[in-house]
Amino acid sequence: MVGARHASGRPESADPSGYDSELKRLDPVFRRACAVQASDRVLDVGCGTGQTTRAAARSAQEGSALGVDISTAAIERARGLAVAEGLSNVAFERADAQVHPFRQESFDLAISRFGSMFFDDATAAFTNVRRALRPSGRLVLMVWQAGERNEWDVAIRRSLSGGSEPGGTSEAFSLADPSRTSRFLAAAGFVDIAFADVDEPVFYGRDVPAALAWVRGFTCTSELLHRLDPDEAERGLIRLREALSEHLRDDGVWFGARSWIVSARRG
Ligand SMILES: C[S@@+](CC[C@H](N)C(=O)[O-])C[C@H]1O[C@@H](n2cnc3c(N)ncnc32)[C@H](O)[C@@H]1O
Repeated sequence: MVGARHASGRPESADPSGYDSELKRLDPVFRRACAVQASDRVLDVGCGTGQTTRAAARSAQEGSALGVDISTAAIERARGLAVAEGLSNVAFERADAQVHPFRQESFDLAISRFGSMFFDDATAAFTNVRRALRPSGRLVLMVWQAGERNEWDVAIRRSLSGGSEPGGTSEAFSLADPSRTSRFLAAAGFVDIAFADVDEPVFYGRDVPAALAWVRGFTCTSELLHRLDPDEAERGLIRLREALSEHLRDDGVWFGARSWIVSARRG
């Protein structure tokens, strides 16, 4: 899927359910935090293929859900999935959430599952989202905690670092620091900003080959592999396969993951 990026900055696979599967233990936490009410008008920022938008629409029986994403391919896929489910109170628009002229005060709740870490200017983007919310409207985000707290990121970097200490970080972790994120949100006009720790693992596949294929699709994996010469890259992939094997359980390959639920209210 061109242009779409997934958690850890990974490109979305042609199979959208791969990402939804990866997050199957995190999604229920996100849904509970969103607590969509029957009459809510919900804006889903960086909605990807729209699993969270569709869930919001199902809860907002007398309301509606709008998913926006910068990726045309993701939006087309999201529309197809919503039609297949027969949902009539959901819509999707290709839009850059940082600057899109949303109708002011037209949403009760803005949500984003790992879709809000990729803004060039976070304060400007959250200011734009705040304008779209009615006074006291709620914001609920799920974002990654720091890379070193995420077993999956440590394992990928360690495997593909070519023997040196894994370094660097990706924009997927841009909202990991609560103080910094609070500053962005406060400057954008949000109040009652709170962070709740989520300690739920990510799922990479039912077996090691499936997990390796999935992880190889991540942007961070490609970037790390590109830095290595062909022999080092081959050794790195052997180390990555071993790391995945070490995390194989009866029900597939799982890695520890730490994320935040960030909640706030329009001031
Ligand atoms: C990690 S994916 C998450 C997708 C979706 N929220 C989910 O949980 O399935 C991040 C998404 O944010 C989108 N995105 C990044 N920057 C954006 C922007 N400025 N405006 C709208 N969407 C954006 C990407 O295209 C991508 O689909």
